[in-house]
Order: sequence, then structure tokens, then C-alpha cells
Amino acid sequence: MDKLVIRGGRPLHGKVDIGGAKNAAVAILPATIMAEGPCTIQNVPDISDVHILLEIMSSMGVDVRMTGKHEYYLDGRGLVSSVIEHEEARRMRASYYFLGAMLSRFGKAAVALPGGCNLGARPIDQHLKAFMALGCECVVDHGMVYCDSGRGLKGNQVIFDIVSVGATINAMLAACKAEGRTVLQNVAKEPHVVDVANILNMMGADIRGAGTDTIKINGVKHLRGVEYSIIPDQIEAGTFIAAAVATGGDVEIDNITPKHLETIVSRIREMGGEITLDEECAYVRRRGPLLATNLRTMPHPGFPTDMTPQASVLLALAEGTSVIQEGIWSNRFRYADELRRMGARFSVEGKTAIISGVSKFSGAPVVSTDLRAGAAMVIAGLCADGMTEVRGVEYIDRGYEDFVGKLRALGADIERVEDLEEQIVQQEA
Ligand code: EPU
Repeated sequence: MDKLVIRGGRPLHGKVDIGGAKNAAVAILPATIMAEGPCTIQNVPDISDVHILLEIMSSMGVDVRMTGKHEYYLDGRGLVSSVIEHEEARRMRASYYFLGAMLSRFGKAAVALPGGCNLGARPIDQHLKAFMALGCECVVDHGMVYCDSGRGLKGNQVIFDIVSVGATINAMLAACKAEGRTVLQNVAKEPHVVDVANILNMMGADIRGAGTDTIKINGVKHLRGVEYSIIPDQIEAGTFIAAAVATGGDVEIDNITPKHLETIVSRIREMGGEITLDEECAYVRRRGPLLATNLRTMPHPGFPTDMTPQASVLLALAEGTSVIQEGIWSNRFRYADELRRMGARFSVEGKTAIISGVSKFSGAPVVSTDLRAGAAMVIAGLCADGMTEVRGVEYIDRGYEDFVGKLRALGADIERVEDLEEQIVQQEA
């Protein structure tokens, strides 16, 4: 076990490169097994969620080779297994994408219920609703999800009860080769949904409307191998924007898609960020004092839930009171206790947080409760007086490539060290 040791008070300066989008990568990599030839995927982020997925794919019989920095050759032609057991699925949320991908490939799939960050209840009823509408029989038994399409998937209309990124992508995967036409309504519009539709269309699928409320899919018989580059990660970019503004620094954030950052940028500007967007980069500074504002998280193009912890660090240091209303997860604010240790005034009532700004944080030992909370702890540590220790680094590793290296290159005083105390506690337990 490692921990991060941060000595706060240094504004970030310099340039940082944003990697490929985690939530696109974790869908695109499983989707490659649907192709009848090998795929080469570029801009794959070097994060632990991706490593786990590639291990699962390898163990299923996919020929996985790293062919360059951030580039993988994936040949699923030798794939034999359509079962993913508990030990593998538990390690990450996105293992559910193997359901859609294997249904498309084999007409059946068995995947253990997925794990992932604990942000509240994470059912997959909407995924199963779509599969069943396409003619599958779906059974959940002893924690395994079994889907079988019998004589093949058939296109149909699916109206989702709630907007779900995972269910939208999974339904697209399953419907690509379903016979006839599928119409998905009330779908998620996130950039990674569009990215997955783009690679599937390149493979030969006929998907229209990704990025709007309705996706129409005409089933095709074959999908071919392709070369494809994953979009930049909007949340990693947003995290560095928040870190630059929080520390009062001056940072150029490269390899972004400005369109995907519009909501994040406009809200962080309201909090006191000065952000200029170029074709592929953002120039970020602090305009003056941080300003309180109210936030409500919503599916894209609303403010993304995955940016609330980072944004709440800015609000916790702003003059005045801010209210954050979480519209996606029931348990997003688990990190509030940790920020309080550092001096934040943060009260939580259900899915609402009320933050009264303080002028300074003081360094303290804190624990990341999930991936984005971990990023927020780090940003808070960069702004705090004295030393902050962040435990639970494995959450951060799931979604941020070389977070420490990138921050150090921007001048942060942060290091990753072995957590000897944690080892002693574990030995004693
Ligand atoms: N939901 C259901 N039934 C379903 C599916 C979802 O009730 O069948 C509910 C969820 O409980 C939640 C809401 O619908 O309240 C939205 O969930 P969604 O399905 O959109 O989330 P997800 O696909 O499981 C992805 C990201 C999350 C991100 C959410 C929301 C991946 C692997 N994960 O999760 O990312 O918070 O969309 O944008 O794509 C992260 O990157 O830190 C992260 C947690």
C-alpha cells in the first residue's frame, strides 16, 4: 500500500497532457471482441481499470499486445469464453460491458455483477431491460448475470426509465448485429457514448443519433477490425483545471476536446477561474478570489457528477455559501468527512451538500473514498498549509494516469511513498 505525501502552498505552473478517456476506454476495449479482425486502439490511458480489463480479455483468449505508448493490438478471433467470474468482475464496474459485447459476439453471456467505486446503489436493471427487449432471456443467480438470446437478437424499441451511460452503451453493443432496427430512447449523451458509437460505425455498424436523446441502429451482419484513437478524458482535464484554479497557478492543459469541457469550464469560470480555450488546449489561471456558486449535477450536457468532489474543493475555499445538489448518485459526498478534517465547512443532507467557504485548509491525514474524491483530496492538499497524507491511492490509480508525475512536473510538492503504518495496522488486524 502506498500513500501520497503533499506539502501544500505551491501554485501549479506549466503544461500538462491529458490522456485518453477512461470511461470511453473501458467500453471500447471490450467492444473490440465484436470485430471479426484485429483492432488497434490508440490513446489508451495507462490506468489500473484498463490494466484489469486487458487482463480479463487476455484470460478470455484475446491476443492482447502493447504496440506502443498508449497503443494496443487486440485480436479477439481466438476468444473462447463467454463467462466472466466474480473475482474478475468484482474488480471493476465496466466489466458489465462484456455482457453487451459477448451477446453481440456469441448470442449469450455470463458475467458476475460488477464492482466499482461505492457511490450508492448501482443496479443494472436498465441494461437488462434493453437486452430483454432485444429478445434475450436474462437471469440473475448467485451474483451472476446470465443472458441468452436463443436464436439471435432482434431489433426493438427501448425507452430507458432513467438516463444511464452504461445501459446506453451496453444496449448499443448488443444491438449492432441484432436483426432489424433498434431505437433507443432517453439515452445518455456523454462524449464517451458518442466515441463508442464512432468506433462501432467504423467497424461497420449502422448507428445514428449518438449524442442526442434517441439512437437508431440498423443491425448489420459483420463487424471488421479497425484502428481507432480514444477521445481525451474530459474529467482528467477538468481535474487539472480545478487544481490550477485552486492553487492560484497558471497551467496550459493540452490534448483536450474543448467542446466536451463547455459545462465544466463555464461553471469553473463562475467560481473565479480564468480559462481560455484553444483548438486543443486550455489556458487556466485564477482571476481573483474564489467565488461561491450553486451546482446541480446532471447527465451530459449538465455538470458531470464526476467533477463535484474537485469543484467542491474550490467552493470550500470560496467566499460565501454554496449548495451542491447531486442528481446521479445517492452516496457521492462520502468525502465530506475527509475535507472537514482539513478545515472545510461542509454539511451533507442526503443528496445535497452545503459548503461555507473558509480562507485556508490545514494539512491532515485523509483517505480517498472513491476515484474522484481521491483527486479532490489531492487538490485540497496542494492548497493546504503544511502536510497532507492521502491514503486509498489505489482509487486514484483506477482513473488517473501518473497523477503524481503530472503534478510534480507542474511544480507540486507531492510524492508517493510506501505506507508503512498501513502495513503495521494490517498485520495487527
Ligand atoms: N442506474 C439504474 N439502473 C441501471 C443503471 C443505472 O438505476 O441499470 C442508475 C444509477 O444507480 C445512477 C444513474 O442511474 O443513479 C446513472 O448511472 P449510469 O448508468 O449512468 O452510471 P454508470 O454507467 O454505472 C458511468 C461512469 C461513472 C459516472 C456515471 C455517471 C463508467 C465506467 N462509469 O457509470 O464514472 O459517474 O457514468 O456519469 O463509465 C468515474 O469515472 O469516476 C465514475 C464513477
